[in-house]
Amino acid sequence: MRLPFSLLFLLSSHYVRALRHSFETHDYYVLEHDPHIGPSLSQVASRLSVQVVERVGELDNLWVVRIPKQPPSTFLRERDGNGDRVFAALASLRNPVFARDPDRHVARSMADSVKHLARQELRQRVKRAPPPIHPGDDDDPSAHPLAQPVMDKLDIHDPLFVRQWHLINEEYPEHMMNVSRLWDMGITGTGVITALVDDGLDYESEDLADNFWAPGSHDYNDHEDLPTPKLPDDHHGTRCAGQIGAVKNNVCGVGIAYNSKVAGVRILSGTISDVDEAAALNFQYHNTSIYSCSWGPPDDGRSMEAPSYLIERAILNGVQNGRDGRGSIFVFASGNGAAHGDQCNFDGYTNSIYSITIAAIDFKGLHPIYSESCAANLLVAYSSGSGNHIVTTDKGRSSCATTHGGTSAAAPNAAGVVALALSVRPDLTWRDIQHLAVRTAEIINEDDPDWDKTAVGRLFSYKYGYGRLNGYKFVTAAQEWQLVKPQAWVELPAVQVENGSSTLNGEMSGGLAIVPDGVTSTITITQDDLDQNNFEALEHVTVRVWITHDRRGDVEVEIISPNGIKSILAARRRDDLNRDGFPAWRFMSVKHWDEDLRGTWTIRVSDIGAEDRTGHFLGWQLSLFGSTIDASIAGEYQLSLFEKALPSVPSPNGPIVSDRPSTTTKAHPKPTDHLPGNHGEAEGEADKPAFDDSNPTDDATRPTASGTMIPTADEGWFSDMSSLVSNQKWVFGAAGVVLLFGVMAGIFLCRRARHHRRAAGHYSALPGDDVALGAMPRGGSGTPRTKELYDAFGEHDDDDDADENTGLRASSPGGAGPGLGFHEGFLDDEDPHTPRTAPTPAYRDEPDPGEAPRGSAIISPAGSGSGSGSRSGSGDGSWVHAS
Ligand SMILES: *[C@@H]1O[C@H](CO)[C@@H](O)[C@H](O)[C@H]1NC(C)=O
Ligand SMILES: *[C@@H]1O[C@H](CO)[C@@H](O)[C@H](O)[C@H]1NC(C)=O
Ligand SMILES: *[C@@H]1O[C@H](CO)[C@@H](O)[C@H](O)[C@H]1NC(C)=O
Repeated sequence: MRLPFSLLFLLSSHYVRALRHSFETHDYYVLEHDPHIGPSLSQVASRLSVQVVERVGELDNLWVVRIPKQPPSTFLRERDGNGDRVFAALASLRNPVFARDPDRHVARSMADSVKHLARQELRQRVKRAPPPIHPGDDDDPSAHPLAQPVMDKLDIHDPLFVRQWHLINEEYPEHMMNVSRLWDMGITGTGVITALVDDGLDYESEDLADNFWAPGSHDYNDHEDLPTPKLPDDHHGTRCAGQIGAVKNNVCGVGIAYNSKVAGVRILSGTISDVDEAAALNFQYHNTSIYSCSWGPPDDGRSMEAPSYLIERAILNGVQNGRDGRGSIFVFASGNGAAHGDQCNFDGYTNSIYSITIAAIDFKGLHPIYSESCAANLLVAYSSGSGNHIVTTDKGRSSCATTHGGTSAAAPNAAGVVALALSVRPDLTWRDIQHLAVRTAEIINEDDPDWDKTAVGRLFSYKYGYGRLNGYKFVTAAQEWQLVKPQAWVELPAVQVENGSSTLNGEMSGGLAIVPDGVTSTITITQDDLDQNNFEALEHVTVRVWITHDRRGDVEVEIISPNGIKSILAARRRDDLNRDGFPAWRFMSVKHWDEDLRGTWTIRVSDIGAEDRTGHFLGWQLSLFGSTIDASIAGEYQLSLFEKALPSVPSPNGPIVSDRPSTTTKAHPKPTDHLPGNHGEAEGEADKPAFDDSNPTDDATRPTASGTMIPTADEGWFSDMSSLVSNQKWVFGAAGVVLLFGVMAGIFLCRRARHHRRAAGHYSALPGDDVALGAMPRGGSGTPRTKELYDAFGEHDDDDDADENTGLRASSPGGAGPGLGFHEGFLDDEDPHTPRTAPTPAYRDEPDPGEAPRGSAIISPAGSGSGSGSRSGSGDGSWVHAS
């Protein structure tokens, strides 16, 4: 039928090859093209007058396209409200001006083959001055009774090995990564490659050169092959790399996996687009096993930010196709914002089910002041605190670092242990690694009040996750480990509370007023749900919530399992004054691992009861991930573009359009940005719960862990009746839940049936296509801030331009459009206090010298479109996955 795409790509003259995107001369977009609808990508590109530049990283059907910059078109702005030629062209394909246009059906199917369209902007990542580096003291080797025998036996001559307490801790021998016995067994990471996604890697360091793997390295900031640290503070990646792969020689110390390879993927030293970030997270992903990521949204206790659709796609692609299908291992530092009240469940990278989230414990095994807590924390590994830092390699030929620390040093220590495990068991999948983490983690500070028993008798803590990563135990368990069965999931329909609704853009209305004691809502999972979804054993739980609030930091969210196990998903954040609430924010908990998930799950949303700061609970959606019953019929999880709407949007067979310049306001500083200056010296603690759980009703509402459900007052559904039925209200609650579930199931089946009919090719006859999404209200909230940021980035220096771009958001009437696939609300959430430093050196965006547009896809000026913008959704809706 059609040529395989790669062939087409090579043959066609419509494609320019440009690895460097020239944002000065062109506007860039990402276009998701469904090749099964009919029109080829090059036909679509022609009609939209864009050139296809390249594929997005390793992502199928996602393409970077561009169009030469032109002065904003007044004509188009009037027609389409924003003046963006590409969106106008797409809109005109969808809604031809002349109804009898013979080309109408072709145009329509071209429009339908565009699943997602988003304009690309550059992002600025903020960095901060590093702490001063002190030269290492000269230690007397004879004063190292534990290290010396290891050095003698393994022929270690690295001068700072004796100061690497995370490897051999002379003072607190029970607190170390516990890997030297593995080295003794010959387990040193041979054959495993870890990429440090960071600010560069000094491959000329004598401590790293021999273990540096150049093919897996790339500089996405300066668009070069080698990740050369160039800025004065580009030493973070080198330090993290040393923790994993510092060579056993006579320079500094050794890495945990000192015979493994390290690669550097430089993204933190300047601006980067989502396209590049997506490519970075899949770079050389067949050969690179582990991506060690010591960065994230600002740890300021105010930010709430998740990866964009494109980056989520890359992470999912990594776990599904990386390492030849075993899955890339993404290790993320939990964040350094604990002193600011920050929690890792407000960071969409650390609360992803696909990442291994590592918090820190210190030299004495205590919880350091900076290390963030949350229900998504899986493990802790050693880092700075209680008087000591992490000693490792530094930038420079033979420089060593002695002030490294924070959770960004804990994550590479864990990555090093994973490298050891993969060197003996390369067949472990990304989920096997997480299972091993849960099962081999060790309890520390057992009197810490933060520990709580899970339904299956393990202990879990928001501070420590399942506990401390013991390298020896983890790797020896890996040697014996039986692979888990493929992943299964149950995605329950979103529960709408009191007509609470939200557009895909996060514009929320309705819902139930939140009272200080909390409002609750429940949903029940039955054996049937499990059977239908081929679901055996539970691993991760995610909870998506729609909540409005005058002050987001006042809101607390928790989920209580049928067995009475409570996960605190959001505790108060005193510095979070944001007023946008939680527009479809997704929390994650690993606390319910292996729990029997059948029965009634209860969500409780409360606030501190300040009279002038109130909010509404609009709805929630529960998803459960685990293993399959029958591995032979396992499916492959797909992201939905619709999951942010409440009620869930049906899946009409049509394109998704997002013209929201969604990436402009993101900034991912290194976690060191909020790391307290005294992170190494400050004494840790082990006697405080992570979250000050002062809500008086907690004990009352908390069912006992006896295995029987003790229903809770369901104010969410029966507030009117509650005074009447008092003690019996749970009866009504249960009946209501059953009824609701039935109704939901009915709607679900109906919609599914409809979806299937459409999938069968009848979609064009259904008038509802445009209505479902187009009918949803939309507004342009946050517009001024976007403009402000545009200006801050210096991308658009005249008013016209800025207007044009902010206009993009305000003008797209189809609710389906702006922000689809992007966490729009979360990008806006950063209040003006968020450090948003001045742009660092401008994006290097000269066109590739050798590049000349070979031919052109531009056939005609677009802009004859009606631009009414009723846009419909795509066929890959959320309902599909629920089956
Ligand atoms: C290292 O692991 C082994 C096996 O679990 C254990 O016996 C030993 O105490 C551990 N040492 C440390 C320092 O954790
Ligand atoms: C990656 O590994 C494959 C074999 O699994 C090999 O053929 C290929 O050359 C490797 N790539 C690089 C860049 O070394
Ligand atoms: C929800 O909407 C329905 C129909 O639109 C209406 O009848 C009902 O009263 C509403 N309920 C609430 C609590 O607003």
